[in-house]
Amino acid sequence: MATAAQFTRLPHPAPTAAADRAAVLADPGFGKCFSDHMVCIDWSEDKGWHNPVIGPRGPIALDPAASVLHYAQEIFEGLKAYRTADGGIALFRPEANAARFNASARRLAMPELPEDLFIGAIRELVAADSDWFPTVEGGSLYLRPFMIATEAFLGVRPAKEYKFLVIASPAGNYFKSGAPAVSIWVSDYTRAAPGGTGAAKCGGNYAASLVPTAEAFANGHDQVLFLDAAEHKWIEELGGMNLFFVFSDGTLRTPALTGTILPGITRDSLLQLAREEGLTVQEDRYSLDQWRADAASGHLVETFACGTAAVVTPVGKVADRTSEFTIGSGGPGQLTQKLRARLVAIQRGEAPDTHGWVTRLG
Ligand code: PLP
Ligand code: COI
Repeated sequence: MATAAQFTRLPHPAPTAAADRAAVLADPGFGKCFSDHMVCIDWSEDKGWHNPVIGPRGPIALDPAASVLHYAQEIFEGLKAYRTADGGIALFRPEANAARFNASARRLAMPELPEDLFIGAIRELVAADSDWFPTVEGGSLYLRPFMIATEAFLGVRPAKEYKFLVIASPAGNYFKSGAPAVSIWVSDYTRAAPGGTGAAKCGGNYAASLVPTAEAFANGHDQVLFLDAAEHKWIEELGGMNLFFVFSDGTLRTPALTGTILPGITRDSLLQLAREEGLTVQEDRYSLDQWRADAASGHLVETFACGTAAVVTPVGKVADRTSEFTIGSGGPGQLTQKLRARLVAIQRGEAPDTHGWVTRLG
């Protein structure tokens, strides 16, 4: 069984030239450019996790019958490494990503990965690609651990062979529009139903969100919002972010974790920070109709989206097929900005880490 200490390190024959890398790092965008290295670890029934390798990033060979290509047996995570003010590197709550990865693995009938191997793999990759941190304000190295079913078999049952990989992508802002707040499209489609895979971070959930997302873009919006499957009434989450609501009495509200939404690590962190601020926090259900009415009456003053990629992003406008409404003044609200600043300061090592959330990589 592989351990974090046993990685085989393959040298890169031709790393990216410094000038080309600098150009990327000055304007990375999100998810479109990649570092030089990757981690790969294999799993089989007889050997368990074995053959951990850090080496040059490149195409992987897959049998055309590999289960992932047919039945989408795939899970992933997303977390960021930050350059801290003192020149070090930090990860934010990587144990939480490791735990969620294993929860996703259980739901998708895949083998769990020991936390030390998950974090060890990330350590290896960040060490190999430590010169891939963006130079832009708010930049980070986005890490994408994922697992795929590689067994060549077309029967429908859990595969008997898997690969775990980690790639890294220098990242700036998730939303390319420079707008102060994003615009949300309420979809007629459903993302997840009770008993389904909504709480797992599996590729299939995102495949199902692509038509609704394309529809959001076609209608001029930045993100898609999904309502519950049964009544098409209760707010669940966005295509890739959780949602929070701020009321004029200072209450903060977010949909409860009912099994159909992703348990966001940013969501959990913000809930803790808000409670420490003395805010009243409610995790319960909130309907689209009530949201619209509360925005109109002024009871609702802010809404924001949160997630690793998007951090904390204000929502300014909401639309569905028949109506449209604006949140507050349509720009970033005060509490949104305050919570964002508190979170970012902790992530970047600029504020004390009183929760034990930050893992320093040296
Ligand atoms: N919801 C969905 C569907 C997501 O893809 C993400 C992003 O990972 C989130 C919520 C936010 O989760 P986290 O804060 O852990 O990044
Ligand atoms: C993340 O925030 O890490 C996500 O996974 C959101 C999206 C890029 C899928």
